[in-house]
Amino acid sequence: MNYITVNSYKELSAKAAQLIASVVTLKPDCVLGLATGSSPLGTYDCLTEMYEKGMLDFSRVTSVNLDEYVGLDGDNDQSYRYFMNHNLFNRVNIDKARTFVPNGLAADPEAEGKAYDEHIKALGGIDIQLLGIGLDGHIGFNEPDSRFVPETHLVDLHESTIEANSRFFASREEVPTKAITMGMMSIMQARRVLLIANGAKKKEIMEKAFFGPITPEVPASILQLHPDLTVIYCENE
Ligand code: F6R
Repeated sequence: MNYITVNSYKELSAKAAQLIASVVTLKPDCVLGLATGSSPLGTYDCLTEMYEKGMLDFSRVTSVNLDEYVGLDGDNDQSYRYFMNHNLFNRVNIDKARTFVPNGLAADPEAEGKAYDEHIKALGGIDIQLLGIGLDGHIGFNEPDSRFVPETHLVDLHESTIEANSRFFASREEVPTKAITMGMMSIMQARRVLLIANGAKKKEIMEKAFFGPITPEVPASILQLHPDLTVIYCENE
């Protein structure tokens, strides 16, 4: 594991973007595994800047996102599809037809999960998976559990996750309580994994996840077993 600590969110974002950019440059038709939430916003700004300066070309890139809320369609400004369009896809030359986010409106979430995993496999797997981490140690929306769930699946979000995500909604009641998330198999099979986190409030969970025992009660701890893991943490917001 390459565990890097930096002093500012700006530095974290620049480093994360450089790593992703190196993958895109070395393999223009790569598959990027992407995340939403506040942690990657600066990374997406840096990638956009590189694209605008002519340093990066996304025209052959494919992307697969980690998760989506159940019940929100892509036009809903709280959906993760909307987030990705707004914060990255509309700003660079990626072909939107090759950007994939689990379908939060799927009538059969189990079938949707299966199809999502098969699709990732058919794409040849993920070249680099970007992750944030929840205060309870979740990655994607793999919440603390009695086992690591391998497949893309439907989850009930934990109270602490609903609470944390309520900052993006007008009220707590509006936060969806279910999501579809990529499971541990596609995440762990990614050729590289990059996890970014910032803020003193995440210090404790970062220590548990990367320096504590590997347990499904701290889902991110499984990443300690990944052969090519980079973690970038900045204690400052
Ligand atoms: C987002 C995701 C989540 C977030 C995590 C941290 O696609 O899968 O695991 O990465 O909840 O969120 P932020 O970055 O908002 O603290």
